[in-house]
Amino acid sequence: MSDNQKIFRVGLCVSGGIAAYKAIEVLRGLQKAGCEVQVCMTRHATEFIQPLTFRALTDKYVLVDDYAPDNPDPIAHINFSQNIDLLLVVPATANVIAKFANGIADDFLTSTYLASTAPVLIAPAMNTTMWFQPATQRNIAQLKNDGVHFVEPVSGRLACETVGTGKLEDVENIVSKVLSLKSQVSTGNNLPETLDLKPETLDLLGEKILITTGGTREAIDPVRFISNHSSGKMGFAIAEAAAKRGAEVTVVVGAVSVDPPENVKIINAVSAQKMHGSVMQNLSDATIYIGAAAVADYRPKNVSDNKIKKNDESMTIELERTTDILSEVSKNRHNGLLVVGFAAETNDVIDYARGKMERKNLDMIVANDVTRKGAGFGSDENQATIITRENAVELPLISKMELANKILDEIISLRNK
Ligand code: CTP
Repeated sequence: MSDNQKIFRVGLCVSGGIAAYKAIEVLRGLQKAGCEVQVCMTRHATEFIQPLTFRALTDKYVLVDDYAPDNPDPIAHINFSQNIDLLLVVPATANVIAKFANGIADDFLTSTYLASTAPVLIAPAMNTTMWFQPATQRNIAQLKNDGVHFVEPVSGRLACETVGTGKLEDVENIVSKVLSLKSQVSTGNNLPETLDLKPETLDLLGEKILITTGGTREAIDPVRFISNHSSGKMGFAIAEAAAKRGAEVTVVVGAVSVDPPENVKIINAVSAQKMHGSVMQNLSDATIYIGAAAVADYRPKNVSDNKIKKNDESMTIELERTTDILSEVSKNRHNGLLVVGFAAETNDVIDYARGKMERKNLDMIVANDVTRKGAGFGSDENQATIITRENAVELPLISKMELANKILDEIISLRNK
């Protein structure tokens, strides 16, 4: 392979959002890392930033319009798309994402996407409402299914003065994602098989899933709390699997020890009371509720405003019951809502789980014996039995992601009944 072929060629596509100026820093970062970058822009992007800026920095003609009188190349979108090792979109607007997902090619950038066989990495940036619109989430799920890679937007203060998800990921993180993909793509060869592009089935499109996960923390005083060993992994695995299968996912997150997945809406609620409030606030929209959180059954009756001093040899904390969120959800069940619970048991697993399913009026309960080796809190694996009113499917010890997909399979078969 010649030296020339070893240069990693990035086609940097800039679409029309306020974050367009950050594409300049991404360009500089890629150039510093030794990549060769050619830029194209949408017409709207040129309202935010001049093509001349990119031309000066790349020493290459910046493509906006195939038909521009000064465009030197009569079939520019074909030549551009076929001479890159990665197509990178920074920032990607909801509109560009929608066009990509639907095969619309009505300008240079979208024609380039359609004409390219190079791997694609998209860094979206937009207003929070636009990001969480079912249409946008559907388009993203479709593109992921098509093998497109994403650098998810982060939460922060947006240009519209709101705080929420939609802010372009940090420039360094976008550059490092490009470099990590670079190590998977052989330069001079655009074949996407070099990446892991396992397609997912979009069988949960249209479902809105509300999931709780993690443990809760029940305050004793300003520095102490009662909690449990839950890591949040099981609920996050279900959230990740469901989002990949096309669902719109909201996760109410308690105390967790792992990072949340991408592409789901996160609501932090660390106590049983906060979790109850967040669930009830978001329930009316949901079509499926999955209570995977290890919610405390009791909390201290009186929370001390000051740190409690150790004056006595022993102390007693009086506890009171928390609200059973799962029972409240099924009591307030609206038409078509499927309600799924978990039962972590140490003995008589199936009997106790069936009892909970009846008492809490659930459609399904996932029962597991937390004393079994490899299936307890914090583990990456789980051994569970999925129980519905009609049957019980006992599964072997499998990864939490595999179990998540099995639970979703059972939910779909319940939905189809
Ligand atoms: N749960 C809940 N709110 C609570 C307690 C539990 O929503 N305050 C949910 C959990 O998320 C889980 C299910 O109820 O989906 C089972 O929780 P568990 O604590 O095992 O059940 P309990 O009915 O509290 O029974 P136990 O006496 O075994 O604690």
